[in-house]
Amino acid sequence: MQVADPTTVLDAEALAAYRRDGFHLAENWLAAELVQQLAAAATGILGQDSPRRIMERDGVTVRSVYGPHQTDPVVARTCRRAELAGAAMDIIGEPVYIHQSKINVKAAFVGDQWEWHQDYIYWLHDDGIHNPDLVNVAVFLDEVTEFNGPLTFVPGSHNEGVLAATEKQGPPMGYEDAPQWVSTLTADEKYQVRPDVIARLVRTNGMVSPKGPAGSVLFFHPNILHASSQNISPFGRTTLITVYNGVSNPATSTGNPRPEFLAARDATPVRINS
Ligand code: SIN
Ligand code: MN
Repeated sequence: MQVADPTTVLDAEALAAYRRDGFHLAENWLAAELVQQLAAAATGILGQDSPRRIMERDGVTVRSVYGPHQTDPVVARTCRRAELAGAAMDIIGEPVYIHQSKINVKAAFVGDQWEWHQDYIYWLHDDGIHNPDLVNVAVFLDEVTEFNGPLTFVPGSHNEGVLAATEKQGPPMGYEDAPQWVSTLTADEKYQVRPDVIARLVRTNGMVSPKGPAGSVLFFHPNILHASSQNISPFGRTTLITVYNGVSNPATSTGNPRPEFLAARDATPVRINS
């Protein structure tokens, strides 16, 4: 299916919630059969040793794999579906390309945290993307509960601009021999938001952890303040996250560009299928 009118996937209520809160959860958004295909594809992708694969500090548990839409046909086709790419066009308001994709595993019992952070500062400083007109589209491949390390948001914080005050120096603990770009992908965030800034925003706006069954899709703004805690449960929390960007807002940094699997240079618009 070719989506001619880009405002046909998300309804007005969903778009209003996204603009107000900085996120929107679409429960049961993808068919169970597709979720099963994606979960099977993810198992294969996670098993491949590659620089795209980031391990937890224990060195044996997979934390993330970057750029699966570039290597796996099931992921590639899914990222072009109207439910994801069409919805991203609704949010951004123009044709989109894929800036980044990743599978975040959050393994049972051992999956580590993501500290409080915003995403856009990485795409601004490291990739030279001039405007925060991107959207994260997170597909739940497992049920997300309060126990398996759900994403936690400060609603409305996407309107606060870039909040990080400091850049952590040196490699993150446990990744001393890794390439420099790994410092943007571990449990220790490179761009740190001060605790008093987080506390002020949480006091006024609260915190929300959207939860739902596998097949739900969580759309969130690149400037929303977010974190996720360790997975203390015996249930995994595998998530496929695709970052769509407007075609008029491409990466521009040329000095020391991150690998293509972290930051796309090819801004060819996604052609939607289903
Ligand atoms: C997570 O998967 O829990 C974190 C993802 C993110 O910080 O964007
Ligand atoms: Mn993030």
